[in-house]
Amino acid sequence: MTDMIQQIEQAAREAGEIIRSAHGSDLQIENKEGRVNFVTVYDKRVQEFLVERLRGIVPDAGFLGEENGLDLFRPGDEEGWLFVIDPIDGTTNFIHNMHPYVTSIGLMKDGVPYAGVVYAPVTDQMFSAERGQGAYENGRRIYSSNAPLADSIMLTGSAGFSMEAFRIAQNVTAEFQSRCQGVRTTGSAEYNLCMAASGRCGGYFEMRLGLWDYAAGGLILEEAGGRMTDYYGRPLSWRGPSSVAAVSAGIAAEDALPDTGFWLDQWNGR
Ligand code: IPD
Ligand code: CA
Ligand code: CA
Repeated sequence: MTDMIQQIEQAAREAGEIIRSAHGSDLQIENKEGRVNFVTVYDKRVQEFLVERLRGIVPDAGFLGEENGLDLFRPGDEEGWLFVIDPIDGTTNFIHNMHPYVTSIGLMKDGVPYAGVVYAPVTDQMFSAERGQGAYENGRRIYSSNAPLADSIMLTGSAGFSMEAFRIAQNVTAEFQSRCQGVRTTGSAEYNLCMAASGRCGGYFEMRLGLWDYAAGGLILEEAGGRMTDYYGRPLSWRGPSSVAAVSAGIAAEDALPDTGFWLDQWNGR
């Protein structure tokens, strides 16, 4: 493990301390656009802390983050270093003090993921990966599962503010329920990707995620032997919002996923 990833892990651990200190204090909850799209003072504070802290680790890096007006992938962001931060992924869970919620830090180099760190402060789980170096959970090498879809649990999710996304997630759930051992939803995209990376589940599907929801966990899954694509099986652009189909090595190797027609119907069926 290089010095750089250790420093990013340390920054995530410190962010976790800020998050752990939150409960019992006023979270100052605000609603962003739409229904159930919350931000707390801790989301903002943790992102501010991380930008400052990570600047000290890679001084010439740019920043993309969910909060504080840093949420647009701009021309030029595909060149050089770019940190992609979700200070709290699973904010609604955080507000309800219900695990999981995580801090997520992706580091892109020239438009592709170079490093990823996802830290779950409640369970003290540190997931990390560097391109070509494998994926780790608390320092132990992890691998995605070799099990077929029929022997796996699958995860899905949808943002609280979109009933359309919820409807599609329901269809995905119904479709997968008959092909696997059960479909779950946790409320944190990055945590889901880490569950697939560590072999606990077979994969995770969500129709629309921000880059900060999948940049870190996506690399961790790929380094654990899994596969990241969009719903149509196409490679991800790693530039912004996308549907995400994340699967284990076992499921990537078999031909058991719903076909393109199923996915097309989800959008056409509005
Ligand atoms: C959300 C979570 C959730 C997913 C949503 C995301 P946030 O992120 O990852 O699991 O279903 O699409 O927006 O708002 O808690 O950072
Ligand atoms: Ca998020
Ligand atoms: Ca967030």
